[in-house]
Amino acid sequence: MDARDFFGYKNPDEEPGRRPETDDEDADRPPLFEDAVTLDDPEAVRRIDTSDMLGVAAQLPRQLAQARRIATADPLTGRQVDVDAVAVLAMGGSAIGAELVAGVAGERLRVPLIVHRDYGLPGGLGPRTLVIAASHSGETVETLSGFGLARERDLPAVAITTGGRLAAAATDGGVPLLRYQMAGQPRAAIGYGVGILHELLAGAGLIRDPDPVGPAIQAVEYLLERHAPTVETSANPAKQLAWSMFGRIPVVYGHGAMAAVAHRWKTQLNENAKAWSAWEPMPEANHNAIEGSLNPRELSDALYVIEVRDRDEPTEIAERYRVVEELLGERATNRSTVWAEGPSGLARVLGAVAQGDLVSVYLAILYQTDPTPVTLLAMLKERLARATGSNPTSAR
Ligand code: F6R
Repeated sequence: MDARDFFGYKNPDEEPGRRPETDDEDADRPPLFEDAVTLDDPEAVRRIDTSDMLGVAAQLPRQLAQARRIATADPLTGRQVDVDAVAVLAMGGSAIGAELVAGVAGERLRVPLIVHRDYGLPGGLGPRTLVIAASHSGETVETLSGFGLARERDLPAVAITTGGRLAAAATDGGVPLLRYQMAGQPRAAIGYGVGILHELLAGAGLIRDPDPVGPAIQAVEYLLERHAPTVETSANPAKQLAWSMFGRIPVVYGHGAMAAVAHRWKTQLNENAKAWSAWEPMPEANHNAIEGSLNPRELSDALYVIEVRDRDEPTEIAERYRVVEELLGERATNRSTVWAEGPSGLARVLGAVAQGDLVSVYLAILYQTDPTPVTLLAMLKERLARATGSNPTSAR
């Protein structure tokens, strides 16, 4: 299968972002509300969301259930379990799953979990580091290069993918391969990204007292129902939030596991809505970002701040949010708080991920942009492959 099948890039002449050749003075103006379609018109939504990213987002509970089955059928054994660190090699939509798992497990992790988003391997890996290469397409050169080095060093390794060169390399090297089937976009496979890794580490005893997946699935189902496309904007917080972000740059804040969720929101806003977005972890943001909110003054209305919060957050973090509100409340009016809901950390994280995914697709629809294809990303991969040859290690 060609990488283009995964990323939805069809036409080499398509150049998104190219400025239209027009004399129309309005071509560069920011979007106006009257330009946006209503999110409550199923026909308009279908016309824009041609590959049904909204429907794909609703498959998260099914993916989680399937992921649990895959991980349970192929548990880690021997050298893969007897480890003192775990390094996950992954990029983009395949990496965020590991970041979310690290956030959920937090102090319950028995060994450090490093998420490596680069070519090669992180420093400091010893013979007892479990290397997990995760790539949805199995074709990501950064991940392939690190996996190759891990094999050369004979580190305990596992591969998680739908196929591609990663599956072939794992099979050739006799490395355990956890394979799932999903034809869509990598970022839309988040249920596998979180579910397989969480269950694999939990099954190996590398997460103490892990949260059960069942209640998390139920929490996600509830959230998806509450924010579903069929729920009208007046009763749908995800649609309302997309409207608030429309024409503005969303900046997402979170603490602990919710920092990983904030990162996921940012990447989904980028890839689905094709929108600028940023994220900031708490409490680090209190030491710099808070000071950077003043200039340029003309842009103060151009941002939209979202705080993704957990009712179980430590009191010192709640206190920080309260003081920030006190300091910035009147000035920074474009902001909302999203409270994650659910009976466990895993449930709240997955629920907040589901909500953010829907917000990002609703925002894409408001911008009248098909959320599924990531044409620039695909073009970049293709041009790099052409420039460097297809050998992953030579693409550095
Ligand atoms: C596209 C997406 C990307 C990819 C990334 C790595 O939907 O989410 O961020 O995840 O380019 O590709 P894979 O996941 O195939 O290793």
